[in-house]
Amino acid sequence: MKIAIIGTGYVGLTTAVVLAYLNHNVAAVDKDQSKLGLLHQGKSPIHEPGIQNLLEDVQHTIRFTPSVADVVPDAELILIAVGTPPKKNGEADTRHVEQAAREVAQVCLPGKHYTLVIKSTVPIGTNQRVTEVVETVFSARGIQGNISVASNPEFLQEGLALQGAFYPDRIVVGANSEEAIDTLRRLYKPILEQTFDPPSTLPRPSAYHLPPMMTTDPNSAEMIKYAANTFLALKISFINEIAGLCEKVGADVTEVARGIGLDARIGNRFLQAGLGWGGSCYPKDTSALLGVAALSGYEMPITEAARTINLRQRECIVEKLRSALKTLKGKTIGILGLAFKPNTDDVREAPSLDIIGELLAEGVIVRAHDPIAIENARRALNGKDTSANALLHFTEDIDELAYDADALVLVTEWELYHKLQLPKLAKQMKTPILIDGRNIYSPQDARNAGFHYIGIGRA
Ligand code: UGA
Repeated sequence: MKIAIIGTGYVGLTTAVVLAYLNHNVAAVDKDQSKLGLLHQGKSPIHEPGIQNLLEDVQHTIRFTPSVADVVPDAELILIAVGTPPKKNGEADTRHVEQAAREVAQVCLPGKHYTLVIKSTVPIGTNQRVTEVVETVFSARGIQGNISVASNPEFLQEGLALQGAFYPDRIVVGANSEEAIDTLRRLYKPILEQTFDPPSTLPRPSAYHLPPMMTTDPNSAEMIKYAANTFLALKISFINEIAGLCEKVGADVTEVARGIGLDARIGNRFLQAGLGWGGSCYPKDTSALLGVAALSGYEMPITEAARTINLRQRECIVEKLRSALKTLKGKTIGILGLAFKPNTDDVREAPSLDIIGELLAEGVIVRAHDPIAIENARRALNGKDTSANALLHFTEDIDELAYDADALVLVTEWELYHKLQLPKLAKQMKTPILIDGRNIYSPQDARNAGFHYIGIGRA
């Protein structure tokens, strides 16, 4: 199938390479020349495990261009995967989605049928809005256009994006047109039937079942995306709320999560207590959902509370450090992990940024380590490691991070931190205090290694 994808961000690029791998004819459009420059050299502008290899594999079935007019007229299906950044009031800004739809409608051939798919995360009602935008352009052009607009929300997780694209739990399609639903069923046929040969680095999971394609109305499809992310965010905030109480009453939240997770109705995933959620999705999507609710004059106290608890997790790290070190000013603290989660260099809404900001404000000397996210963190922290603020240092050397430090704080559970030589690190430090913000260590092992160990929700 001939496909045009508008936007080569995290969702657009992942979708483009996966569809090209499935033998579709893919053309991806982006206006960002620096991204296009990399893509033309066969290099991925995003860090995502496996994407570079796959991009090399599909070099001959994918092309990248800055021009919508180059690729849309010929396409059967056009997929919009541009950003929907938060507006000042928290609502998602759909300006880029509408602009993309406008540009598409300007170059569609009269009479030819197209399916226009919205993959970006958009407020409820956007499908309808995009349909109106397209019709307005057609009537201004004086042509009889023939576009069906469908909503096809994306459920990929950063760091596991290719896994999620090849082996999804479900595919959701919201459309009023049977023709659009049929086109999407043909698009995803190899995934729905799992008839493709898996890439060598992404074997099909042994217990994987064929995914259903759920079809529904556009508003419900748009709501499913927000409700799914909000529910996962709630689940994490719930276990973090329980973690706080565990500390007060002498229970261990990791045991509690294990015990409740064994109930099939609850399930054990997304019950890892710790520093809470960051990234570009849960913070933005919970806020956008509250924005939609506010416009409808509707209160959502559970969603509000999930956000409040999430911020409290970040603040509690500084409290734990204060209670262990008494005074913070002038102390040296090492931060293990800057990315909002492992296997990504994404630091958007990362807990590390808030924690570092607070520590710097307290006059702490902060050393920060991450295997791949240092440059992004440096930019996000606005050059706080310059001579204007000599308190913040980035290092790629964990020994340097620990040397003579007063405490270490584990913020991101990178695989390499699981394998640290804890006894060696403890010996290098001035005071061997370890705050384990993701509960990855056994408290007993950390204590045996010489650390004063403080987890989250582990009394
Ligand atoms: C999330 C959803 O999981 C995807 O389904 C969705 O497509 C995506 O948002 C999106 O809307 O684009 P993502 O933000 O990449 O994906 O990452 P998650 O793996 O869901 O983790 C989000 C945050 O929750 C991370 O900061 C992680 O550290 C935290 N988390 C996750 C916990 O604190 N505890 C857990 O048990 C699980």
